Amino acid sequence: MHEARVARTRDGHPQHTALLGEWAIGKTTLLMHWRRRLEAAGDRVVLTMAYPQSRDDFLAALTGAVAAETDSGWTSNVDLEVGFDVGVAEARLRRPPREVEKELPSALRRAAQVGDHHTLVVMVDDVDLVATPGDALLQLRAISLELYAMDIAITFVVSASPGLFGSIRGAHEPLVRFFEPITLGPLGAASAAEAIAKPLAGTGIRFDDAVLAEIVELSGGRPYYLQKLAYFAFDAAEGGTVGRAEFAAAFERAFASVSQEIFAARWSAMAPAERQVASVVASANVARLSGEIEDAAKRLGISPPATRQALRRLAARGQIDRLANGQRGRYAISDRLFRRYLELQACER
Ligand SMILES: Nc1ncnc2c1ncn2[C@@H]1O[C@H](COP(=O)(O)OP(=O)(O)OP(=O)(O)O)[C@@H](O)[C@H]1O
Ligand SMILES: [Mg+2]
Repeated sequence: MHEARVARTRDGHPQHTALLGEWAIGKTTLLMHWRRRLEAAGDRVVLTMAYPQSRDDFLAALTGAVAAETDSGWTSNVDLEVGFDVGVAEARLRRPPREVEKELPSALRRAAQVGDHHTLVVMVDDVDLVATPGDALLQLRAISLELYAMDIAITFVVSASPGLFGSIRGAHEPLVRFFEPITLGPLGAASAAEAIAKPLAGTGIRFDDAVLAEIVELSGGRPYYLQKLAYFAFDAAEGGTVGRAEFAAAFERAFASVSQEIFAARWSAMAPAERQVASVVASANVARLSGEIEDAAKRLGISPPATRQALRRLAARGQIDRLANGQRGRYAISDRLFRRYLELQACER
C-alpha cells in the first residue's frame, strides 16, 4: 500500500502518509522496513525522529538530517550562503528561526536532485511529540506543494498515535487529506503465533500449544506484550518445554515487568476521577455505553459530566477503547494486561 504511494509520487502524483498506531504497535519497525525496501528499489530515504520540541527546532533538526544524509557538499554551501566561515550548527544558531522555512526546502531540493535516485522519501517518526504537530505538518505540506510546483518528487511519511488528527482541530481537514492515514493495528493471531514460534525454532525449547495460544490471546497481537510474555516463558522452561504451570509463574513476572515499565507511569498521570472511571471500565469484560458507566461511577461519587469527560480523555490517550456505533460510543479496555492492572489497583483502594 505504501509502496504504491511512492510509485505514484515517482510518476508525478505525490501522496503522503500518516502512519498511525498505538504505542509499541510497531510503527518505528515498519518505517525501517519500508526504508530498506525503498532503498533497495533505488529511492532515497531520510528517516528522522521528532522529539518534544518547538516547531522551529523540529524543522531545523529535519533540515540538518536531510542535509547530513544526502550531500557532503552541503556544509560548504551553507557557509557560502550565510557568508560565515563556520559549521552548519553554529550558522543555524546565528540565524533568526524563521530562516528554517527557507532552509528546509533548499535542503530537500538538493537531496532530491543529488544522484539518480527516483524519489525522495522523508520519514518523521513520532511527529506528535512536536509541541504543535499541526503547525509542523502544515509547514511540511506547504514546502511539499512548493517543491511539487518545481517538479521535485518528494513524499512525506509521518508516524504518530491514532489521536493525531483529533488533536489538530483547525487544520484537520486539509491535513487528513494531505497525509493520508494508514492505521497499524495489532498482529492477527496467525502472525502473532508465528512471531513467537519462529525465534524459538532451533533454540531447543518449545512452548506447549496451549501456552502458545494463551500468549497470543493475552497479548491481543501487541508485539511488545508478545515479546515480554515469550521472554519470561522462555526463561521459565523446564526440561526444554514450557507448559501451563511454568507459564503461570512466567506470566506474573511478565505482568510485573510491563506494569513497572508502562502502567505505573500511566496510572500516576491519571487524574483521580480518571482512575476511578478507568477502573469502572476495566471491571466489565464487555463494552458498555457511557450511560451505564456513568451510573456505576455515580455510586463512587463521580458526577456524570465528570465521567463523560474522563471517558473522552482516556479514549483520546488510547487508554480505553471507544467503539463507535453511530452516535453512541461504547467503552471497553481490550488490552488484557492493562485491564488486569486496573482491576488490581481498584482492589487496593
Ligand atoms: N510485526 C512485528 N512482529 C513482531 N514484533 C514486532 C513487529 N513490529 C514490531 N515488533 C516489535 O515490537 C516492539 C515495538 O515496536 P516499535 O518500537 O516499532 O513500535 P512503535 O509503534 O514505534 O512504538 P513507540 O510507540 O514506542 O514509538 C519492538 O521491540 C519490535 O521489535
Ligand atoms: Mg516508535
